[in-house]
Amino acid sequence: MTHIRFAHEDSAQPPSLFPPYASTVARSPREALIRIPQTLTEITGPAGAWDHLMGPAVADLTRQHKAEPIGQRIVVSGRVLDENRRPVANTVIEVWQCNAAGRYIHVKDQWDAPIDPNFTGAGRVITDADGCYRFTTIRPGAYPWGNHTNAWRPSHIHLSLLGPAFATRLVTQLYFPDDPLIEIDAIANAVPLEARARMVARFDIATTQPNFALGYLFDIVLRGQQATPFENDHE
Ligand SMILES: [Fe+2]
Repeated sequence: MTHIRFAHEDSAQPPSLFPPYASTVARSPREALIRIPQTLTEITGPAGAWDHLMGPAVADLTRQHKAEPIGQRIVVSGRVLDENRRPVANTVIEVWQCNAAGRYIHVKDQWDAPIDPNFTGAGRVITDADGCYRFTTIRPGAYPWGNHTNAWRPSHIHLSLLGPAFATRLVTQLYFPDDPLIEIDAIANAVPLEARARMVARFDIATTQPNFALGYLFDIVLRGQQATPFENDHE
């Protein structure tokens, strides 16, 4: 499998400092970065052992509790690809999202939207030999986030990719194609316009399951001219 790397290869990646996204002002580096040499620990492991470390896949977020969560069922699928659109197998994709009302199960999320006792919002899948992944969940809601008065995040699913080693980790967000909040969201807009659409899933009738769930396709390209924008892709 090809490795995931962190180097900028594409101006379409979000900058670490984007003042409209207020928290980047305090957390972006002020000094030149220092390259820390990677050791065997970061670059050799634990390829092939993620499922032993993390447990079996959690590919259906709607069946983790006694009853089904409230919300629109969706099936998200796609492929992880390298710059030549070759499939990247054995990539762990961790999934993290809020519920249909826009509330996370997290101590810091205390806004006035209901918690769904039947929804945790965490999942994990691994790409197969063809680089394919697939999970079932409910569509997350929008939520306010305090960036400025009346700032709301568009519906999104956080995805974290883990390749063969601890150093090969990339984080991004999946958005939905019919969401009017994307164009006024400071986080989505930190990604230059030409690449923003790469973070938007595509509705797909072929993977929509009759009488069950809407299908969305989302391919993740690790690098190159069509690379998916990643939150941590900074030199
Ligand atoms: Fe979020």
